[in-house]
Formats: sequence, structure tokens, C-alpha cells
Amino acid sequence: MILITGATGQLGYATIESLISKGIPANEIAALVRDEKKASNLINLGIEIRIGHYNDYNSLINASRGIERLLLISSSEMVDRLIQHKNVINAAKENDVKHIIYTGIDIKSFERTAIPHVSQIHKDTADYLKGTGMTYTLLNNTLYADLIALFSGDNVLESGIFFPAGTGKNPFVSRKEMGEAAAVVLTTTGHENKEYAITANTAHSFSEIAEILSDIAGKEVKYLQPDVDTYIKELTKAGIPKESASFLAGFGTAIGQNEFDTDRSDLEILLGRKPMELREFLSSIYGK
Ligand SMILES: NC(=O)c1ccc[n+]([C@@H]2O[C@H](COP(=O)([O-])OP(=O)(O)OC[C@H]3O[C@@H](n4cnc5c(N)ncnc54)[C@H](OP(=O)(O)O)[C@@H]3O)[C@@H](O)[C@H]2O)c1
Repeated sequence: MILITGATGQLGYATIESLISKGIPANEIAALVRDEKKASNLINLGIEIRIGHYNDYNSLINASRGIERLLLISSSEMVDRLIQHKNVINAAKENDVKHIIYTGIDIKSFERTAIPHVSQIHKDTADYLKGTGMTYTLLNNTLYADLIALFSGDNVLESGIFFPAGTGKNPFVSRKEMGEAAAVVLTTTGHENKEYAITANTAHSFSEIAEILSDIAGKEVKYLQPDVDTYIKELTKAGIPKESASFLAGFGTAIGQNEFDTDRSDLEILLGRKPMELREFLSSIYGK
């Protein structure tokens, strides 16, 4: 039996869809869900729902009973994430789960990063998991291609991309393909105690993304490169809380510093084919 945490979220659902499309019977998949009202799509698929909250150790003990492989999707909450992840790992260990797969981050340095509040937790979780002696696999995910729309701003085809990422490049991967990579690791062997870079073969800058969008739209889409202060000022003027604007700006700075640009990609090997080109992904979003 496989348990997917974060199953009501986007990556969790993409993983479950991929497991099903690989022919894994729904009754061999369980979903950790904290609010059953959000799980109707999973229930419709015939997935077993196990109620659990990362903060509630007993619920995790119940949820991980009889599980062989567990995909721990990192928490989306910004407080107590390490405690939450440790709870899932400890409960899995107590239940003798054979293999834990954790979705972390592929970043060059945990010490010199513009987003330590986001990335350090992944290193701490990975270190903790390794320290338990359990069989693990680390899926070190780059940034989702799906975030490009959020980073670029509203009405991007009309207004241009407004994001402080300079000339930095990022090897974006769609959530769907990340879910597929997780499903491969959950259903095949040879991944024990390995770390994978879930990154595209090619990294793209936002000026390259603007060129692709220009081709898709059949008109020029500009890449406006505001500095961080201007970016935060403009977003707050548009009603976005300063904290959220600063959070997004941190990602711009990290991309600008090429923090995710890497020579390593294990995605093609895991998928058994070339990952989707960014142009194709952007066409699916903007080419309608
Ligand atoms: N690589 C990237 O670009 C990137 C970007 C954003 C986030 N992330 C990380 O990757 C994770 C998965 O991404 P996503 O897009 O699938 O995020 P998402 O759609 O926000 O899903 C997060 C999932 O975690 C569950 N969750 C959060 N806190 C929990 C708790 N205390 N107990 C039990 N479940 C809890 C959520 O449950 P509810 O549905 O009940 O809220 C949801 O199912 C995120 O959580 C975040 O850590 C990565």
C-alpha cells in the first residue's frame, strides 16, 4: 500500500493521477487528507482516505498503518514545518514503513540563498530522514513551471512580465511531470537511498520566457525587470500585502542569482523520455 501525503494539493493529486494511469489499482493507494471535504476527487477515484494532520502525531500513526511506501509531500504551512515532517517520518518509522520518498528542493546552496525560509527546511528534513536509517529517496524539485504565471503577473500578454529575476535562468518543470517522477519512484525499484534532481534539461531566463510568450501571442511581450524595491512597491500599490510581495521577490532574487540553475537533471531518466519543453508548457497555458 502506498500513502501520499498532501493528497488534496496539486502535486499530491498529480502523483495519484499518474499512479492510476500507470495501472496501480486505486485500492493500493491511500491519501493523507486533513479535511475530507476537499477529497471528493480522490474518493471518486476510489482512493482510500486516511485522515491526518502533520501536527497530530496520533493521526499520522493511524494513517501510516500497513503502508509500505510513503510519499511525504512537504508541508505548505510556514510554521513548524520541520516538526510536521518529523512527525510524519517518526510515525512511518514506528509503523515500519519500508521506504519514504520526500519532495525537497534542488538549490545550489542552503547557506547563500535569497530564500532561506523556504529552502532550509528541506535540508533539515532530508538530514533528519537520512539519520533515521530508513530507506529514503529525495526528490529535489526545482521550481514549478506552473509558477511562471504567478511570477509574471496579471495580463502578462498585454502588460509584459513584471518580475525581479534579472538575467537568471531556471530549469522549470511542470507539477504534472514532477508528480509523474514521484509515481515512477513509488512503483519501480533501484531508487533506494538516492537523491534525484527533478529539473528540466534546459534552464530559461525570463527574457527567454518573454520571447516564447511573444511567439505564442503573435505580438511582443516585454520582460520588464524591476529592481526588488520597485517590484515590492508596485505590488503593494496594487493591494498585495507587503509580506506576500517580499516573498515573491525572494524567488525573483534567487532565480536572478541562478540559485536553481544546475547541470544535473535526473528527470529524463525517471520519465523514460525527454521532459516537456517549456514552450509546450507555456503554450498549454497561454496559447488558448
Ligand atoms: N517546487 C516548487 O516550485 C514549489 C512551489 C510551491 C510549494 N512547494 C512545496 O511543495 C509542496 C507541494 O506543492 P503543491 O503545489 O502540491 O502545494 P499545495 O497545492 O498547496 O498542497 C499542499 C498540500 O499539503 C497539505 N498540508 C499542508 N499542511 C498540512 C498539514 N499540517 N497536515 C496535513 N496536510 C497538510 C495540504 O492540505 P490542504 O488541502 O488541507 O490544505 C495540501 O494537500 C508544498 O506544500 C510546498 O512545500 C514547491
